[in-house]
Amino acid sequence: MSEKNFYLTTPIYYVNDIPHIGHAYTTIAADVMCRHMRMRGDNVFFLTGTDEHGQKIQQSAEAKGMTAQELADKTMLNFRNLWTVLGISNDDFIRTTEERHERVVQSMFQKLMDQGDIYKGSYEGWYCVPCETYVPESSMGENRTCPDCGRPLVQMQEESYFFRASKYADRLLAYYEANPQAILPRSRYNEIVSFLRSGVRDQSISRTTLKWGIPVPGDDKHVVYVWFDALINYATACGYLDDREKFAKFWPAVRHLVGKDIIRFHCVIWPIMLLALGLNPPVCVFAHGWWTVEGEKMSKSKGNVVDPFEMARVYGVDPFRYFLLREVPFGLDGDFSELAMVQRVNSDLANDLGNLLNRTLQMMGNYRDGKVPAPGAILPVDEEVLSLIDATLATVKEKLDVFSFDEALKSIWALLGRGNKYIDETMPWKLGREGNGERLDTVLSTLFAVLRAVTLLTAPFMPDAAKRMYVQLGFSGDPLDERFPSVALRNAPAGQMTQKGDVLFPRIDVDQWKKGREAKLSGKDGAQVPDAKIPSEHEDEISIDLFKSVELRVAEVIGVEEIPKAKKLYALYLDLGYEKRKIVSGIKEFFTPQDLIGKRIIVVANLKPATLCGVESRGMLLAAGPKDKSALGLLTVDESAPLGSRVS
Ligand code: MSP
Repeated sequence: MSEKNFYLTTPIYYVNDIPHIGHAYTTIAADVMCRHMRMRGDNVFFLTGTDEHGQKIQQSAEAKGMTAQELADKTMLNFRNLWTVLGISNDDFIRTTEERHERVVQSMFQKLMDQGDIYKGSYEGWYCVPCETYVPESSMGENRTCPDCGRPLVQMQEESYFFRASKYADRLLAYYEANPQAILPRSRYNEIVSFLRSGVRDQSISRTTLKWGIPVPGDDKHVVYVWFDALINYATACGYLDDREKFAKFWPAVRHLVGKDIIRFHCVIWPIMLLALGLNPPVCVFAHGWWTVEGEKMSKSKGNVVDPFEMARVYGVDPFRYFLLREVPFGLDGDFSELAMVQRVNSDLANDLGNLLNRTLQMMGNYRDGKVPAPGAILPVDEEVLSLIDATLATVKEKLDVFSFDEALKSIWALLGRGNKYIDETMPWKLGREGNGERLDTVLSTLFAVLRAVTLLTAPFMPDAAKRMYVQLGFSGDPLDERFPSVALRNAPAGQMTQKGDVLFPRIDVDQWKKGREAKLSGKDGAQVPDAKIPSEHEDEISIDLFKSVELRVAEVIGVEEIPKAKKLYALYLDLGYEKRKIVSGIKEFFTPQDLIGKRIIVVANLKPATLCGVESRGMLLAAGPKDKSALGLLTVDESAPLGSRVS
């Protein structure tokens, strides 16, 4: 198979907002897609990041008494941390305030100016400050309001640089007509094509009304308009200026995942910018729908913004990832309800998936001491199940090629359903009783093959649960490291030792869950939703899931700094493999910097950042010592534990 390249991006998120399920949705979808493509053997480059310039950020910062840069530095961590908690496997995280990006924006601006595609003019129009867009008269809401956010528009006039977008509209239309898969789903394609047919106007791409942006080259009075700046992030991170080889490799394979509200920027303005620069437009832009929450638009003023950190904490990362992609077809709008999530955890995860695993491993234990048997003769019913494995792999690939996550999951669940039915049909317990060993071997081996296939196919969606399933099936390593082209899914490895483990997805007691929720909504008892999946008899016991929500990782101490006036604290610079960060730790009286540098320690990587003696600390190290605090021992590991690896 020839190697393929696959480059996928999420939108870069505005840092004036805290992350909500909308942000989590796109990023999880992109993560699933990238993990799946890696398993198919593709070279994947997965990008996300933050959009840090523009009026909204400047205004938010002013309101908080901070500089825009301070606000961006602080709030972008909310996104970075969320991606760590949600297990996002991005290869790069771009911030538009980074120097590597500012250089690319200026260079592209200059190139377009030099070739006559940017000119200076004057712009007058109705402007929506929060959305940072001029709104044409024809699209205004009642009483001159913004059609997107409903807020009043203000009249603005300013000198502005314009991008000659009109010149390239026909070329873009021809590109789309020749490549209808370039915009998905089809309804969005139709929308964009008819928009292009109605004509595209030149775009105002600079502002004199604010300072917080990238200066226009040679004209400091202007900063580059935030959208012109933001879209370019996709090229910056792909190495447009700094790594031509990477750019040549991945740019022809670029795909953007976006929400439906920002498709004109991605399907009209951005491809036109690319055409003007002599670059190819994206292979595909996929626009997903929007979530409402229990039937209502999500908004801060309604107080119904769903916090992804909380969802992951209460329900677990994997169920949350699964639910978002299973519940609603990716291109359509959907409604988020926690009850629907609880029901899906119980029916799809605890019942369908958990049962097949438990029943199979239980029987493998009872009849074959946990060892996978070599199959005997294959009867038509076995063949039917085994062929469904291959067919399911083919369907999942086909569905994910067009971002149909729910359809891909449905086909995996059809295989699970077939597996559960196969148990009922073949009645292995009866075969065991009757001493029909050969037939029992075939049945157990077939069930094993189904479970392995399900594990591999669900691994991009639920990386952690899949890993636990894999271990129970007796494999070492991570299912995500398997490559579909080389795994013979139908063949169960005879002789492999399975090991039945903890319940994969504990059932949530719906009555208890409802009571907890009522208490939360009525504001009683500190308004905590009980962790529904952890009904515990003993207060001092915690479940494995609660333990797992603490992200312990291996880090190397690469630098130690004293903090002025702090007698007990050091600032430690840590290398986690996938990123470097700083933590503050009260260990100064026990160690010199030399004692610490080079040590591989264990840190809590998903701890909320805290500022100690004016230094921001992003995590905590683990250490132990006697109660009187007369000594301290650091928890360390040797080099067999790679940097960033999770402690479990
Ligand atoms: N910064 C721009 C994107 C620039 S890309 C070059 C931006 N940022 S955003 O933070 O406001 O929105 C990011 C994404 O979140 C958008 O794709 C948007 O569609 C998505 N969502 C915002 N609310 C949403 C829901 N309620 N549901 C689903 N997605 C939603 O726009």
